[in-house]
Amino acid sequence: MAPAAVHYAALPHAARAYNVGLPDQRTSCFMPMPTPSKPSCAGAALFLREFLANPRDVGSIWPSSRRLAWRMARAVPLEPGHRVVELGAGTGAVTEALLQRGLPPARLVVVERSAELVAHLRRRFPGVRVIHGDAADLVELLGGPDSVDSVVSSLPLRSLPPRQVAAIVRAASAVLAPGGRLIQFSYRLARPGSLSRRFLAVASGLVWSNLPPARVAVFVNRGAGPLAVGA
Ligand SMILES: C[S@@+](CC[C@H](N)C(=O)[O-])C[C@H]1O[C@@H](n2cnc3c(N)ncnc32)[C@H](O)[C@@H]1O
Repeated sequence: MAPAAVHYAALPHAARAYNVGLPDQRTSCFMPMPTPSKPSCAGAALFLREFLANPRDVGSIWPSSRRLAWRMARAVPLEPGHRVVELGAGTGAVTEALLQRGLPPARLVVVERSAELVAHLRRRFPGVRVIHGDAADLVELLGGPDSVDSVVSSLPLRSLPPRQVAAIVRAASAVLAPGGRLIQFSYRLARPGSLSRRFLAVASGLVWSNLPPARVAVFVNRGAGPLAVGA
């Protein structure tokens, strides 16, 4: 599988550890993508209904492709004890990839704002803690700061109101341990801009086999500081 266009925005050596487009020691591109579960018509219909009801919140007509979900999951380190929170799980495309990647269900917490989608996720992933809530309230939802090592976000940051995005980015930085990762996809294909001064972009890669194509970006948490949400 040829790696898609990849660049390292900063820290060229350290960036190898945050690889989203090239193989690393644990998650090689040559590691075959696990077989996805059979797409469920009910899941797709639910996703579409949610989009029609809340287009700004959902941000897409259909769930992420298997390839995009796998690329997100591959950017999460598989160190023992690694704790992950997934934001905006929808019908569970990325959740499934994270579990297939080898993350123990007990190490994963999911936060989703739609009650319908939360009910669906709880049925689909009974071993995973699924919280019905707003990602902007992450610190309260997870019980305090420094509670996870990676944040995996499918939130449509480009369609949400800027003040809400600022609150989400601030909360994600607060719950992440110093040096923890924020993994975010976007339908904006340009290199990731400055999400906030709290986060340093270290790697990104394009995923063409998604409708529309997307870019997965990896940011490292720099901790508290003046918040400036950018592109
Ligand atoms: C683009 S969909 C991604 C769904 C799924 N992860 C995927 O990749 O197919 C975005 C999801 O984020 C959820 N969402 C939007 N704003 C949210 C917020 N502030 N807090 C938690 N979830 C939110 C929406 O309900 C929706 O399920």
